[in-house]
Amino acid sequence: MTHLPKNLLVGEKVRLDGLRLDDLPAILRWQRDVVFMRLFDAQPAYPKTEQGLREWFEEQNKSNEAFLFGIRLIETDALIGYIELDGILWPHRVGWLSIGIGEPEYWGQGYGHEAMQLTLAYAFQELNLHRVQLTVFSYNPRAIAMYEKLGFRREGTFREFMERDGQRHDMHLYGLLRPEWQGE
Ligand SMILES: CC(C)(COP(=O)(O)OP(=O)(O)OC[C@H]1O[C@@H](n2cnc3c(N)ncnc32)[C@H](O)[C@@H]1OP(=O)(O)O)[C@@H](O)C(=O)NCCC(=O)NCCS
Repeated sequence: MTHLPKNLLVGEKVRLDGLRLDDLPAILRWQRDVVFMRLFDAQPAYPKTEQGLREWFEEQNKSNEAFLFGIRLIETDALIGYIELDGILWPHRVGWLSIGIGEPEYWGQGYGHEAMQLTLAYAFQELNLHRVQLTVFSYNPRAIAMYEKLGFRREGTFREFMERDGQRHDMHLYGLLRPEWQGE
């Protein structure tokens, strides 16, 4: 009997999909949310323009080092966030992962965890990466809990890396190697 592989992009609650031009308004809305942007990015929170976002889509589409997915709810098809593998160094099979669920009402319901599981399966089974890494700010306990539950190990800390509201904050580096991945 032929063994049919599982659809790597489809989970129980969410699926990974390409981003479409009609997703632009949702992403522009998330980028106006400074709370979200300060969890997601060390750059100054600064909303992209529609033109800037289109250019970002196109760059990611053309790049061989980046794989950008929209996270959609299976039940309603609503776009709730995006997840990306980028900065891939093919000779070493290493890539960076970043995730953002843009609508806060969807936080804490397991969607991020499942989107991460799908993306890790894609990274290790489809792209054959050996190592996936990411950084996270010390003031983001939800993301830290999720990464550690997925098996990521804290490999170091950029001490007092950032300053927000007059306070210095650490940024942690996490990595997951293919043999440590619990998905297979
Ligand atoms: C971080 C993020 C992707 C997590 O996705 P999510 O769907 O909210 O998280 P999940 O529900 O899948 O899992 C989070 C885990 O952290 C736990 N958690 C939730 N809130 C927490 C908190 N305030 N402190 C500690 N742990 C928390 C949950 O209990 C859950 O663990 P569980 O599966 O044992 O219940 C999402 O919240 C998000 O996009 N936030 C804004 C942007 C961001 O922070 N991106 C990551 C940048 S590194």
